[in-house]
Formats: sequence, C-alpha cells, structure tokens
Amino acid sequence: MKSCQPIGAASKAFTWNPQYGKHSQAYVASKYRYDDRDGRGPYRLDNMTSPNPRPNMMYEWKGHASPKYGWRYSRETMQKLDEEGRIWYPASKDKRPYLKRYLNEMSGRILDNIWVDISPINSQAAERLGYPTQKPEALLERIIQASSNRGDVVLDPFCGCGTTIAVAERLNRQWIGIDISPTAVNIMKARVQKLGGREHPTEVRVYGMPTGEAELRELRPFEFQNWVIQRVDGTHSPKKTGDMGIDGFSFLEHAPIQVKRSDRVGRNVVDNFETAVERHGAKSGYIVAFSFTRGAHEEVARAKAAKGLELELVTVKDLLLGTSELVAPVLNRSVVDLPLPPARPKGARPTAEQLVESDQRSTEVA
Ligand SMILES: C[S@@+](CC[C@H](N)C(=O)[O-])C[C@H]1O[C@@H](n2cnc3c(N)ncnc32)[C@H](O)[C@@H]1O
Repeated sequence: MKSCQPIGAASKAFTWNPQYGKHSQAYVASKYRYDDRDGRGPYRLDNMTSPNPRPNMMYEWKGHASPKYGWRYSRETMQKLDEEGRIWYPASKDKRPYLKRYLNEMSGRILDNIWVDISPINSQAAERLGYPTQKPEALLERIIQASSNRGDVVLDPFCGCGTTIAVAERLNRQWIGIDISPTAVNIMKARVQKLGGREHPTEVRVYGMPTGEAELRELRPFEFQNWVIQRVDGTHSPKKTGDMGIDGFSFLEHAPIQVKRSDRVGRNVVDNFETAVERHGAKSGYIVAFSFTRGAHEEVARAKAAKGLELELVTVKDLLLGTSELVAPVLNRSVVDLPLPPARPKGARPTAEQLVESDQRSTEVA
C-alpha cells in the first residue's frame, strides 16, 4: 500500500532533525529563577559579552563599560532588545547587564536516545483501533520528524494498523506501508480513507490484496472472516456472540453476520443462524458464503413467513461487486486496488536513468 510515487533511489545522505522535549521541573526551577510578572513568564539570564574580540561591538551601554572583547550585539540590536524589555540591568554600573531568555521561547531539552515521555496507547485512547500492537501516533510523529522532511518517502515494511502511514500522511510525507496480513492492510485502508487535512491529497494505491474469489478462497479462515467484516465496514463479534455463531455485525443497523468460507451452504446453517439471531434479540441477519443451496434459500423464505425474520444470503461475489446492501458506503478518499506488479527478475537492477527519474518524481511531491 503506498501513497503514490514509486521510489527507486536510496540516498547515502541521511536526515536527522533534533527533537525537543520538555525540560524537567527541577531544571526549570533551578535555571528559570526570574519572573517580572508581566505575563512573559519565567526567564533565565544569558551572557551578552562577545567570546572573541569584536572591535566594532566595543561601546559603553547605558553606563556599563564595554566588556574586554565587546558585546555580542550591535548597538542597534542592543537598542531593540532594550525597548522590548529583554535586558536585565544590575543595580551597580560595575556589573554587567544580561539578556533575558524566556522559558516559553526555548525549544526545550534536546531529546536523547531514551524516550520516556510518550505513553503506550491505553484502553480509552481516542486513537485506539484495537490492533494488538498499535503504537501511539506521538511516537511515530517524533521518529518521522526526526528522520525525514516534507515530501520524503517513509517506508514501514511491518505496518500493522498503519500508524506510520497515518502520521506520515498528516506530516506531508509520501509513504509506503507493507504488511503480510490483509486484515492489517484493510485497517490501514480505512484509516487513511478517514484522514483529512493534507494539503494535496494523493491517490492511495493498494497492491496485492485479494481481489477475486480464487484469492479469497486461499485466505486463512481468520483472515477470510476479517476480510468480509471489513468489506462491509462491520464490527467484529465479541467472544460471547461469536460463540453463538455470530461473527460480526453490519454497519449502521448492527445486524448479526455469520461468515462461512465454504460453498453450497445449506438449510442447517440457516436454521442454526436463525436461533442465534433470535437469541441475540435481532430481527434480521446476514450469512456470507461462496454459494448457497436451494434448501438454504427455502429456509430463509420459511423464517420470514413463520417468524418475520429478515435473513439475507450474501455471496462473496455480491461483496466483490458491491451488489449487496451489506457493502460499506464508499468513503471520499480515493483508494485504488491493484494487483501486485510482476517481480523484477533476479539480479535485474533499474538503470541509473530510472533511479534518477524516480528520485526526481519523489521529490516533486510535498
Ligand atoms: C508489531 S506489528 C506492527 C504494529 C505497528 N507498528 C502499528 O502501530 O500498528 C508487526 C506487523 O508485521 C506484520 N508482519 C509479520 N511478518 C511479516 C512479513 N513477513 N512481511 C510483512 N509484514 C509482516 C504483522 O502482520 C504485523 O501486523
């Protein structure tokens, strides 16, 4: 899954943007000891003397003699700082004035390689998607900002529910996310579709997801069930209802869904599902499978006539074609499903021209 331009060239140069965190309370208390109570907050005093001889900066300032090597600032800058109230004056003319450095204008503490200020995602977090190994966006934000700039390409080859790509998108990076699990890729798809705010939204291309019945038949049962529930933008069953034969619930009306990764699903399955739907207190439900027997359709008709139950038998083909009302509404972000491009033959490398062209294309996007 990627955000648009292919990338072919990797550069030997690397990007490192220092990141800043909050100073500790102890540091603030010991360093920022002054406060004029004028709303500008605490400040510390910084030396205004030049470390090297600067003849043109040697002048007397408001009765304070020039330091040995001169001041750090020109007379004009000194005047401006003074007008802004940014110079601290001692009571005695024998002592030196200092520059006021306000805490709220400082970038903070440069972060080193142990970060303890970002908490893991808790059960109440708004960004929580339920993916077991989901990382907090704040963490990825720091990593991406530290190691890339606008328009750069960010790659996460084990992307899970797509925290990296969601943050990369928000920070105006291009991105490529890879995951072996179609369930993870579907979560990423939904996540980027709901993202807004990017200045120039680009088309999202998803490569290699199952797009036909044959590929869906190959999925493991758990992945197949997830594919169906995600395709209809439904919710997964909690364990309790799962035990009753309900695998998920539809979007909006929240009707029970049972998923069967088989063909010729028959009367028995419908009969058992009726019981599950009734026990759940619902009036309608869906069974999804590759195909159904005539007996299954007859049982659906009987349940409607006898009990007023609205059961719908939905084939995988219906879901693929979007012909069932179960299929989720289309969201506004453009997302295109594409087959995997054929693998490059072993040993074949792109030409220098192709690499340059690819790199130029990648830097055009911001
Ligand atoms: C620890 S999770 C990543 C979580 C991610 N940082 C997030 O915030 O959601 C690791 C992911 O790697 C994927 N994975 C495992 N083996 C893989 C492989 N060979 N190729 C691609 N993805 C793989 C798993 O499906 C899983 O989603």
